[in-house]
Amino acid sequence: MSPLDRRTFLTRSLITAGAGAVGVGVGTSASDASAKRPSATEQAHSVLSDELATRIPFDGAHQSGVLTPAQDHMTMLALDSIAPNGAVLFEGLQALSAQARRLMHGDPVGVTEVDDPPPDSGILGAYDAPDALTVTVAFGAALFDDRYGLGHLRPKRLVEMPNFPNDNIDPTRSGGDVLVQVCANHRDTVIHTVREILRATAGKLVVRWTLDGFQSAARGPTPRSNKRNLFAFRDGTANPDVTDAVLMNRLIWVQPGSGEPRWATSGTYQVVRTIRMHVEFWDRVGMLEQEQMIGRYRVSGAPLGGDGEFEDPDYPSDPDGRRIKLDAHIRLANPRTPTTANQRILRRGYNYHRGVDEAGDLDDGLLFIAFNQDPDRQFATIQTRLTPEPMVDYITPVGGGYFFAPPGTSGPPDWVGSGLAAT
Ligand code: HEM
Repeated sequence: MSPLDRRTFLTRSLITAGAGAVGVGVGTSASDASAKRPSATEQAHSVLSDELATRIPFDGAHQSGVLTPAQDHMTMLALDSIAPNGAVLFEGLQALSAQARRLMHGDPVGVTEVDDPPPDSGILGAYDAPDALTVTVAFGAALFDDRYGLGHLRPKRLVEMPNFPNDNIDPTRSGGDVLVQVCANHRDTVIHTVREILRATAGKLVVRWTLDGFQSAARGPTPRSNKRNLFAFRDGTANPDVTDAVLMNRLIWVQPGSGEPRWATSGTYQVVRTIRMHVEFWDRVGMLEQEQMIGRYRVSGAPLGGDGEFEDPDYPSDPDGRRIKLDAHIRLANPRTPTTANQRILRRGYNYHRGVDEAGDLDDGLLFIAFNQDPDRQFATIQTRLTPEPMVDYITPVGGGYFFAPPGTSGPPDWVGSGLAAT
């Protein structure tokens, strides 16, 4: 958001907050206590900062939270539907989108009747600042089973996540009918959003599993330098360029005429893998061996033998793997040949920390998230190629799933997944 946009937004939001405050006065019985309550405008003044004021649009051709640069905090929320029929399921999905749109926009909280439960938990104060919030909704294969008669609309490659070699998947930490990815600049915004989404969808969607993620701080040396994962390596360096619309249509967004149901056009497949990283074990490995497993220098992120993070690893000049081993993570993940060019994925992962397990070991890992147009051609091909990499001794995939994130929405009253009802 440009400084000008921010200023306009601040002015507008304060005007809106003011209007909300007038509403409060009209809608409540005027007790002394409520007369002394500071107005939403006054309170908004005390909380707004540029970061909190950043707004990302909910509506658009594609959902946000896919190409959006990763905000610092996230919660992945996997939900199961308990709706008795398709009509109630759609009501739940409509409520989900309406709530997401409201929270991403940022609204004064307001009060209905002082004796009623407030319409918002209020943990962000009198004004739900947008805080670069994104709420991205996706569907699991389970939603297309025989409960709601949606089978004929299932995106072609949407299946339950296959079991890959080295996986040790816990069913209670995987799958789900609906996946909600909530990301924002601050942790409290994410927690508030999760709470308000669950309130809006109560009785229709219930929590199946959830996982909190965080980004490491930007520690440079340049603003472009990628942040580190919990193995201490920079992560995200070789992602495809999200500003290249042609490339995104080739790798990320489902295209018309690709054999997918029509409603799925402009959506994307979201692959989620909860990957435990055995960090105590990793910390006992020599620096050189760590770097050889990844194929990059730990401090700079440069490919081995190179100088800068974004330098090409130049595999043709190293056919025998003297510089970058043939089974190094980056070399297997992307051999950079003409035939593997259309297998690239967009990674948008987060670190996680879940305390310690019963053995006292740190339960740390990577909430791996990849967006791609076709998980067979892209994610599964890469994952299979990674089977023999030495890093497998230090990681265990324990959960996740395959999901499909539908296209974006055209504005109220449109909702994510409305294509299911229209077809
Ligand atoms: C805990 C598990 C993982 C760790 C610690 C890890 C770490 C890394 C690191 C440090 C890089 C180099 C920097 C970068 O380009 O981002 C990288 C690159 C990459 N990783 Fe992973 N990764 C993990 C899992 C996966 C999985 C499951 C996949 C896909 C199946 C994957 C696919 C890739 C790809 C495609 C690249 C870019 C390679 C390139 O284009 O040069 N990674 N990863």
